[in-house]
Amino acid sequence: MEYINIGNVKIEKTAALAPMAGVADCAYRTLCREFGAAFTVSEMVSSKGLCYSDRKTAELCTVTAQERPMGIQIFGSEPEFIKRSIDIVSHFEPDFIDINMGCPVPKVVNIGCGCALMKDIKTASEVTAAAVKASSVPITVKFRKGWDNSSVNAVEFAKAMEAEGAKAVTVHARTRDQFYSGKADIEIIAEVKKAVKIPVIGNGDVTDIKSCLDMYNKTGCDLVMLGRGSYGNPFVFREISSHFKGEKYTAPSLEEKMDIMLRHIRMIIAGSQKSELLAMHEARKHAAWYMNGMYASAKFRAECYRLESYAQAEELAKKFITVQYERELTENGQHNQH
Ligand SMILES: Cc1cc2nc3c(=O)[nH]c(=O)nc-3n(C[C@H](O)[C@H](O)[C@H](O)COP(=O)(O)O)c2cc1C
Repeated sequence: MEYINIGNVKIEKTAALAPMAGVADCAYRTLCREFGAAFTVSEMVSSKGLCYSDRKTAELCTVTAQERPMGIQIFGSEPEFIKRSIDIVSHFEPDFIDINMGCPVPKVVNIGCGCALMKDIKTASEVTAAAVKASSVPITVKFRKGWDNSSVNAVEFAKAMEAEGAKAVTVHARTRDQFYSGKADIEIIAEVKKAVKIPVIGNGDVTDIKSCLDMYNKTGCDLVMLGRGSYGNPFVFREISSHFKGEKYTAPSLEEKMDIMLRHIRMIIAGSQKSELLAMHEARKHAAWYMNGMYASAKFRAECYRLESYAQAEELAKKFITVQYERELTENGQHNQH
């Protein structure tokens, strides 16, 4: 197993879990790390919100032992708030702090944060410099290929962040204009890698060991990061880490998938301050993702979105397994007739 260093933090060279607001919460991160994610990152949290003691802060910034190595991700464009928010998040003892300069959503870019900083390298540099000065743990920066195709500047941007003391950069190989659609252009990651000395983390469209190796081989990146490929599929980290550990990979059986789905739901309920019903609202999309790509999954996914209790989820998982086996039997029967 190879390792990389982000500052003084030693990271397994497998694949890391991408930060995903509204998806990769404590339960999600814990599972992915358990299955072999190299590190995890919190959902993004507003530096201004932190300073005005947004009540969601503790929920977003808590770092448990099972999620480590873990970074807390902040966003903001005012160095003073960045400094103060770093003081606050430092109390949660993250292994590193990441600054989001890639978020494409209007609510964030319209206030000059997230990917809007790619259009203003001077402010972005001031933000990173303020963070580096205030932090006792490594500062990393996550950004995109550029704002749009006529302003691709990831290379220049990465160099500027390195100059201000960032200890690693993550490049999501899409422009802001692309949001999450179109193909990631991983060539840009190769260019960034050639231009800086700090570790470069490549991100975009990795979903399995094949696309992970492609990302490593075609870009020379130091680490791969993946997000959506882990929806209902923490097993992807087992697939990737077993490859690098030289271990045999066993794909999850249907039963294991449903077991982990149910455990995931139990973790969401246990970690929630809300009622079981409200926690189930959170859990529904995850349950649906675990059922993706199998027989009658559209119908089952629709049922997931109506789940109101854990007991119902258990029932649904049983029904799902039965339907898959019945289908297999019918298929085998038909096969034998021919
Ligand atoms: C639902 C969702 C939420 C996201 N939230 C964040 C976030 O909070 N911070 C961040 O830097 N990126 C965020 N991203 C972007 C991902 O970290 C990642 O860069 C992007 O999904 C591309 O990687 P993938 O193709 O492996 O999913 C989010 C993406 C999705 C789909």
